[in-house]
Amino acid sequence: MSLAFDVVVIGAGPGGYIAAIRAAQLGFKVACIDEWKNAAGGPAPGGTCTNVGCIPSKALLQSSEYFEHTRLHAAEHGIRTGKVSMDVAQMLARKDTVVKQNNDGILYLFKKNKVSFFHGRGSFVKAADAGYEIELSGDKPETLLGRHVVLATGSSARALPGTPFDEELVLSNDGALRLGAVPKKLALIGSGVIGLEMGSVWRRLGAEVTILEGLPTFLGAVDEQIAREAKKAFDKQGLKIELGVQVGEIKSSKKGVSIAYTNAKGEAQQLDADKLIVSIGRVPHTTGLNAQAVGLQLDERGAIVVDAECRTNLPGVWAVGDVVRGPMLAHKAEEEGVAVAERIAGQHGHVDFDTIPWVIYTHPEIAWVGRTEQQLKAAGVAYRAGTFPFLANGRARALGDTTGMVKCLADAQTDEILGVHIVGPMACELIAEAVVAMSFKASAEDIARICHAHPSLSEAVKEAALAVDKRSLNF
Ligand code: FAD
Ligand code: NAI
Repeated sequence: MSLAFDVVVIGAGPGGYIAAIRAAQLGFKVACIDEWKNAAGGPAPGGTCTNVGCIPSKALLQSSEYFEHTRLHAAEHGIRTGKVSMDVAQMLARKDTVVKQNNDGILYLFKKNKVSFFHGRGSFVKAADAGYEIELSGDKPETLLGRHVVLATGSSARALPGTPFDEELVLSNDGALRLGAVPKKLALIGSGVIGLEMGSVWRRLGAEVTILEGLPTFLGAVDEQIAREAKKAFDKQGLKIELGVQVGEIKSSKKGVSIAYTNAKGEAQQLDADKLIVSIGRVPHTTGLNAQAVGLQLDERGAIVVDAECRTNLPGVWAVGDVVRGPMLAHKAEEEGVAVAERIAGQHGHVDFDTIPWVIYTHPEIAWVGRTEQQLKAAGVAYRAGTFPFLANGRARALGDTTGMVKCLADAQTDEILGVHIVGPMACELIAEAVVAMSFKASAEDIARICHAHPSLSEAVKEAALAVDKRSLNF
């Protein structure tokens, strides 16, 4: 006898658990299956985001930022400290507690919303009359029947060909988040989001960090002016980033890792390090789904093929999050999860891909929404740009954190905001105003006319909007 549900969700990362909750709110009988295990072998819902992604990385970024701030800047405030040192074990224990709070929070939300949670692997068996038969393997095997199935199986770290992750010397995001001690020399391959965030954590704690990046430009997807400003700050901090390299052979030994590479000038180089983090992107994760049993279509990258509304090639089977096209971001996965649940209910769930914000949680933070200046130029769009430096913002001065700027790009004719780019303190929070503005198709003048609290970092957003019309007041 199989257990029948209106909706079976496979994967309890941000895409899956949110889809399950929203579907339950809409009155469906919902099951959510997830195989992630905590250290004791128990369930750990929340996926990559909660267990080895967004949440633990932000916990370590916070701890390491406090450490660096105390070490370098506390004295400016008159705070006297003795020699400041870092208890790495305590930092990791705190991070684990934060992760567990989030795992437990999701289990609580499942209960509250009457979502039946199953711990184990979910695989397709076959299409059945009224949906799909899903096999649950794990401690308590079961067969589930889902009228609709939502696939939210996420992604995993991409390894360099011939260099598998051993999580001892060659680390993915997983190993990078649980290094038991600060390595003297840390190498990273890939100066994307993970490279910069994890490189920052371990540099702040005292590692000599070198990041090798294949592309000749730094943060190519980011507005060039913002990327330049961020690079200046990282250089000053001592985060070494070599662009335009070609990575060759990687050898591991008892002493560490040795990376042969060719630099941008074509010269052969070697980088020796105690540990190597490989952060060269992620690949969609579908192993274990038994996709072929039902003829689920995957593309050449292994992603589940979906239409604009997250429908797969199989009727009643949907897919969301990292396992499908689009940016690999937790909030994008969540939005898709909500939209799919609403579509199953016959509603008109919608995800606006043009207003998905990005944040890189380095110091300074980098955040943006919409199009960059180089994209507007390439598309031949006439625009006006306004920038405002945090150096001229009172709250930033009081915080002692004046690096960076806000940049607002608006249509030259209509003044509609086309993109907002921030490098500086709390960029992750400031970008929300820009997302709201763009979602409501606001003009730069709209933001410029709104009263912003003083003194606040958000005044820099207003001033950048004023600067579009060359009338910023404080710069
Ligand atoms: P996942 O979170 O990967 O969840 C998929 C779940 O499905 C997992 O629990 C997995 O065990 C389970 N699963 C897979 N197959 C099966 C199966 N057959 N049966 C049962 N269960 C299965 N994004 C941000 O927006 N902000 C950030 O700050 C951020 N930081 C990140 C930091 C790091 C180090 C990393 C690696 C990623 C970060 N991301 C961040 C990206 C974010 O984690 C992902 O975009 C997000 O987790 C995707 O959600 P998802 O639900 O699609 O998949
Ligand atoms: P990424 O795509 O951000 O960056 C990968 C970098 O590696 C790129 O700059 C790429 O040019 C480089 N690269 C690729 N192959 C290479 C090679 N062989 N040699 C040298 N360089 C090479 O991927 P990353 O950092 O692994 O993160 C994966 C994804 O996880 C991100 O794209 C993002 O979607 C998500 N993420 C989001 C975060 C956030 O929102 N704050 C934080 C961390 C991850």
